[in-house]
Amino acid sequence: MSSIARRVAGFGTTVFVEINDLARQCNAVNLGQGAPDFDGPPEVLAAAVKAINGELNQYAPGIGMQVLREAVAQHAERFYNQRVDWQTEVLITSGATEAVFAAILGLTDPGDEVIVFEPVYDSYVPNMAMAGVRPRYVPLRGDQWSFDPDELTRAFNARTRAIIVNTPHNPTGKVYSRQELSLIADLCRKHQVVAITDEVYEHILYDGMAHIRLATLPGMAERTVTISSVGKTFSVTGWKIGWAIGPADLVNAVNRAHQFITFAVASPLQAAAALALGLPVKYFEELQVSYQSKRNRMIEVFQQAGLRVLKPQGSYFIMADWRAVAPRHVQDDVQFARWLTTEIGVACIPPSAFYQESDKELGRYLARFAICKKDETLAAAAERFARLGKL
Ligand SMILES: Cc1ncc(COP(=O)(O)O)c(C=O)c1O
Repeated sequence: MSSIARRVAGFGTTVFVEINDLARQCNAVNLGQGAPDFDGPPEVLAAAVKAINGELNQYAPGIGMQVLREAVAQHAERFYNQRVDWQTEVLITSGATEAVFAAILGLTDPGDEVIVFEPVYDSYVPNMAMAGVRPRYVPLRGDQWSFDPDELTRAFNARTRAIIVNTPHNPTGKVYSRQELSLIADLCRKHQVVAITDEVYEHILYDGMAHIRLATLPGMAERTVTISSVGKTFSVTGWKIGWAIGPADLVNAVNRAHQFITFAVASPLQAAAALALGLPVKYFEELQVSYQSKRNRMIEVFQQAGLRVLKPQGSYFIMADWRAVAPRHVQDDVQFARWLTTEIGVACIPPSAFYQESDKELGRYLARFAICKKDETLAAAAERFARLGKL
């Protein structure tokens, strides 16, 4: 007899764990996991240490510390001209991950539908399963990862309660355009649907792209929960400090779930996150310059090795089609990820993991590479990729 609950029985262990284990065994350069192998800004790290040594080690208020809620509101105004009342419109969570889960729990009922774009970040659908909510998938297709406006329009129906929009997008690097966001906004308004946005890569953009907050489009402030975190912007993914911004009634609904999931999140890290969000614009500009150079360099490495790159506009991932370089026995993305890890010594993620069963074909010939790595790590990967052409 298995004691595992039906609620989680279908989840299994992810292919990410398998590839990470394989990467370790083979001493491969790991471009699989989306975590930087370098540290965040020293002043931010120092602020956390100072807070711990300054006796900031007890529970924070469930809604979050004032200093961080104020910093989240100021950051929204500084970068997006988004006016946010820190007292009622900001909730601090354990990373964006908890914010999304709490938003689903707090804003949907069992039997509702939530629209997601595919490929879809891996926690959303299990979150929905635990909430008793059904995902409705709208695929992104082609080199631009566009969606079919008619398909999106048809996805909205009487059961639709929310839509999740992740921009910049993991795993594709797509940055939703104003035109695309406007269509989403029109449909949300028409069907009285809440938008939940995941914007954790908001500061990692290429080629002068601009990040647009769905909440800043006409009529969307009152129906959008904007979610982000410090993990990617400040290279501290282990901190798990995130937030949800939205009108007081929506934030209150998210908080009802949050208060019984984590209740409150790490006080000293909240203090340091507040300092991080207030760093001068120069920090954010330099982050972009650094990622732009990593992206350009790795696009060249992949192309020289014979991969077909689907150029990302944001995030720290690059998707590439591997068909021209893989040996004949490699037939799908999972086999390619295993082969690249064991034979070439570079780990990547097979993107079919981001698709529902019936759409896995859409990710079959692709690999996702994370480029949030030190230049020497990328150089080691480049050296190994040079072997590809010689096999
Ligand atoms: C799209 C997306 N959302 C959320 C997260 C996790 O964010 P956090 O660490 O703040 O929970 C990630 C991390 O990979 C991500 O790619």
